[in-house]
Amino acid sequence: MDNYYKIREFHCTTKAKHGVGALSSLADSIKELGGNKPLIVTDPGVVAAGLLEMVTQKLETAAIEYAVFDQVVPNPYIETVGQATKVYTDSKCDCLIGLGGGSSMDTAKGVGVEVTHDGNILKWEAAERDLERRIAPLITIPTTAGTGSEVTVWAVITDPDRKFKFNVGGPLMAPHIAIVDPELHASMPPHVTAGTGMDALCHAIECYTCHYAQPHTDAAALLAIEYCGKYLRRAVGNGQDMEARYYMAIAAHLAGVSYGTESAGAVHALTQTLGGIMPELHHGPAVGATLGAFMEYNWIGRPKKFRRVAQALGVDENGLSDHDACLLGAEAVYELAEDIDIPSLGDLGVKEEDIPLLAKEAANDPQTPGNPRDIDASGYEWMYKRCLGLI
Ligand SMILES: [Fe+2]
Repeated sequence: MDNYYKIREFHCTTKAKHGVGALSSLADSIKELGGNKPLIVTDPGVVAAGLLEMVTQKLETAAIEYAVFDQVVPNPYIETVGQATKVYTDSKCDCLIGLGGGSSMDTAKGVGVEVTHDGNILKWEAAERDLERRIAPLITIPTTAGTGSEVTVWAVITDPDRKFKFNVGGPLMAPHIAIVDPELHASMPPHVTAGTGMDALCHAIECYTCHYAQPHTDAAALLAIEYCGKYLRRAVGNGQDMEARYYMAIAAHLAGVSYGTESAGAVHALTQTLGGIMPELHHGPAVGATLGAFMEYNWIGRPKKFRRVAQALGVDENGLSDHDACLLGAEAVYELAEDIDIPSLGDLGVKEEDIPLLAKEAANDPQTPGNPRDIDASGYEWMYKRCLGLI
């Protein structure tokens, strides 16, 4: 139930510059933030795809000095952030460019915290304490259409000692400017487009249905769901389809806005804890493999909202009961995942014997309380079993 007797807050402090060719606004964006020498935080895949060069060309044309940290790994570690921070300070940088998918942008956010706060990123785990001041000026440039990290106020960092992915952030973490240019997405291979696109869809569905939802985030989430339903297949099928690329980029961005300053629900509790235990796991496919089961399990927690999700995905639910409409919404997600070749959790390496431990970890994740239906370890066991085809 919407709680309009409680005072809520909605922040969206990130300026978005979007459209085909938006990267051309980079040099002006740095000047706008008063920056002189950015550190570009990115990963080897972005370098190999020639995207780093597209960025550095813009800087060189504008005679802006820069430094590069290109060693971001998937599910970045505390140490990854520390290594990038060292390059920032050694190179006397004064602003940041996070270039890549969620891992690169989250690492850049982590550097933004470390250069403005005492201690390393671990000290600022959101469950332990709030950030004390605004992070260093940060421009985010997503090269995938998925995480929405260019606008979210969270970074997800892996602690290898605890085999746990923790969140850092809050309103002070918001990137200053996000440059969303679908031309940077054209080289994404189909399986990456598919996995990251399902992640965007999942953010929107989870944030729309979770207990933290509020009208501002609902508005963003619904359009994101609609765009994913309309454009994700096209973006996977034809990477050069710039209309599909643009609307998927905006879908991911709006889904990031729909995160607000709070969190998601069971899919992200499950996949984040799973990612902590299996660090080689890619987040997008894992989310895509789980979303249908999430909808089947959760619809009774918020039937009217899950019905609206089905509608946004193009389901004609006129005359149907909530039960039928909501389950057709789940079916639409299963079909989408199948059409774009999302692997199953079993294909991704999850085994039946691991389920009790994985379910227990998910139940303890700080994102679990936001889930639209009450859920404990037995609920997560149901979701895991459903994903492995055991029920
Ligand atoms: Fe995600």
